[in-house]
Amino acid sequence: MRTQVAIIGAGPAGLLLGHILQRAGIGFVILEQKSREYVLGRIRAGVLEQGSVDILRDLGLDSDLDARGLTHHGIYLQYEGQRRHLDFVDLVGRTVTVYGQQALVRHLLAEHDRLGSDVRFEVEGVAPHGIDSGAPYVTTADGERIDCDFIVGADGYHGVCRPAIPGVTALERDYPYAWLGILADVAPSTDDLIYALHPEGFAMHSMRSLEVSRLYLQVDPSESIDEWPDDRIWEQLQTRLGVDGWTLHEGTITEKSITPMRSFVASTLEHGRLFLVGDAGHIVPPTGAKGLNSAIADVALLGRSLAARYGGDDSPLTRYSASALARQWKVQQFSQWMTEMLHVHREIADESTRAFRYRSQVGQLEYTTGSRHAQAALAEQYAGLPF
Ligand code: APR
Ligand code: PHB
Repeated sequence: MRTQVAIIGAGPAGLLLGHILQRAGIGFVILEQKSREYVLGRIRAGVLEQGSVDILRDLGLDSDLDARGLTHHGIYLQYEGQRRHLDFVDLVGRTVTVYGQQALVRHLLAEHDRLGSDVRFEVEGVAPHGIDSGAPYVTTADGERIDCDFIVGADGYHGVCRPAIPGVTALERDYPYAWLGILADVAPSTDDLIYALHPEGFAMHSMRSLEVSRLYLQVDPSESIDEWPDDRIWEQLQTRLGVDGWTLHEGTITEKSITPMRSFVASTLEHGRLFLVGDAGHIVPPTGAKGLNSAIADVALLGRSLAARYGGDDSPLTRYSASALARQWKVQQFSQWMTEMLHVHREIADESTRAFRYRSQVGQLEYTTGSRHAQAALAEQYAGLPF
C-alpha cells in the first residue's frame, strides 16, 4: 500500500492530525496498536485552551464540544483556608473550556468513521523505516508494508518513533509526588476549577459535566490505589479542599487511579522524513492542564507545514521542530511553576527546610493572587500561548 502520510498512534494527536490532513486533501493512514475500546476508554486531560477550541471550530469538529464543553472564565487558587478567584476574561479577555479528552477522542474517531478514514486498530509491531531516505515506509508484524512520503510519530511517551531518531536525547525530571484521580457521579460543587495547596498535600476539583466531578489528590509516587478506599479519598478531599461556608458534595466513585508526574522534552521532534507530535516528544505534569493542548498545538503546526510542503513551500516544515520546541519550553516552565507552587514537598527531610518551603509557597500564592500583573501572567499562560 502507498499513502502520503503514515501516522503512528490514534490518541488525540494522531486522530486530530488525520482530520487536518483530510481537510487539506492529503492522504493518510493511522496505525494504532491498542483496540478501539481501549483507546475510547482512557480517561485523561480535561481542559482546552481557547486556541485548541478555535482549531476544533475551524475544522468543523465542534458539535460535541458545543454540546458537552463547559466554558470557564477562570480558576480558583486556594491556600490557608482562603479561596481566590482569577478571572481570565477580565485579565486577558480569554476563556478555557472543560471538555474531557475521552469525549474529544470519541468525537474525532466518530468523524473519521463518518468520513471513511483509514484508521486501523490492534496493529502490532509497527516500525518506521527509511526516514533518512526520500522513500520512508512503515512495516507491521503481520508483514504489511506501507510506503509514504512522511511518517508521523503520534505514538505517545512509550512509542517506537522517538527511539528511531539517531542520537535523540531528552531533558527530563521526575517529581516526588503523584496524582490520585477519581471520577464521581455527583454534580460539581464549584463553578470554576479549584487548585488547592494544603499542609496535607495538593488537591483539585475539576469536572466532566454538570453531573460528573473529577477530583485529584497529591499522593506519594510509591503509594498503591489499594491503600485508598473511597472513604479515605473523600475524607482527604474534604480536608484539603474545605473552606468555611462551602460544601464538597460526595458521590459514587466510578473510577480511580494513580498517575506519576514527569517533565520530559526530546532534543528534536524531527529526523529526515519522521516528525514527532504530542506525548511522543514531550510530557508535562498535569497541574497546568497543558498535555492535551501541547499535542493540539503540535499537530496544528505540523498539519499546516505539511500542507505548505505539498503546495510547494518547504520552509515551514524545515522549522517544525524548532518552532514546536520553542513553544513547548514556555509551556514546560509554566507547568513546572504551577506544580511546584501547589504541591507539598514531603520529601524534604529537614523539618525547618520543609516549613520554609511551604511558607514561601504560601507567599507565592499570596503574590500570585494579590498582584494584577501576576494574575495576568498566570491567566495568559493558562488560557494558552498563541499557536
Ligand atoms: N504502534 C502503534 N500505536 C502505538 C505504538 C506503536 N508502537 N505505541 C504507542 N501507540 C499508541 C498508543 O496506544 C496510544 O493510543 O499511540 C497512542 C498515543 O496516544 P497518547 O498517549 O494519548 O498521546 P497523544 O496523542 O500525544 O496525546 C497526548 O495524552 O497523556 C495525554 O496529557 C497527555 O493529553 C495529552 C495527550
Ligand atoms: C482534569 O479535569 O482532568 C484536569 C483539569 C485541570 C488540570 C488537570 C486535569 O490542571
